[in-house]
Amino acid sequence: MRGKITVPDIIDMKKSGKKITVLTAYDSLFANILDGAGIHILLVGDSLGNVVLGYENPIPVTIKDVTHHVRAVSRGVKSALIVGDMPFGSYFTPEDALRNAGKLIQAGAEAVKLERGTAVKDQIGALTEMGIPVMGHVGLTPQSIHQIGGYRVQGRTPETAKKILSDAKAVERAGAFAIVLEGMPSNLAGKITDELKIPTIGIGAGPHCDGQVLVTHDALGFYEKTPKFVKKYAGLRELILSAVKTYKKEVEEGRFPTEEYSY
Ligand code: KIV
Repeated sequence: MRGKITVPDIIDMKKSGKKITVLTAYDSLFANILDGAGIHILLVGDSLGNVVLGYENPIPVTIKDVTHHVRAVSRGVKSALIVGDMPFGSYFTPEDALRNAGKLIQAGAEAVKLERGTAVKDQIGALTEMGIPVMGHVGLTPQSIHQIGGYRVQGRTPETAKKILSDAKAVERAGAFAIVLEGMPSNLAGKITDELKIPTIGIGAGPHCDGQVLVTHDALGFYEKTPKFVKKYAGLRELILSAVKTYKKEVEEGRFPTEEYSY
């Protein structure tokens, strides 16, 4: 059985050219399955707002919500590194960041993730200074959708690409151990990956990153519509629908349970 994956292990994977696999997890059962499949990092993303809590975007998610789900995920995991996402409003200042990241770490996260670049360098510095590993997140940052006008690819012009590169460098300089590159042209993600020493984890950012992350429920086919960059590795929505319809029919027709399923 493989051992516990640590932050230094993830940093070493870039050095040895080994791709890093990341998926989101929000509960103990899924976390246990993904961990059993050998995924390196489980991210308790604020995407839990959309996926689990039924919001349209991650803005309403609170630190209490993420803490609750980190606790559940941590109970299902043996090996994967658990990263807890800092939700909107939980890291406006370095003091906020320290107080709220502490809650995620106490709940079982082994690192935290926060969005934006230069704007959060002091937060990243304060957290790493206190021994809390940080994963950065630049490019399409869903917590800024009101500013960027929706889920839109970022960094298409030379100016915006330059800004994303300089944000990524600021995140590295501030002490982050890894960085998510979301929703940007693949050549920009490739350039950032080449120029940074820390691993880059791409989502909708092409194949040149050191690792990849997807929202698990997108990858497993729970949704009819998913973003273009998502590959569906299963069709669980259809599978579940068909199983549940069969159950309903059999109960209604008196075909379940039979004696075989009785005590
Ligand atoms: O919240 C989330 O799931 C994320 C990933 C998509 C990177 O931030």
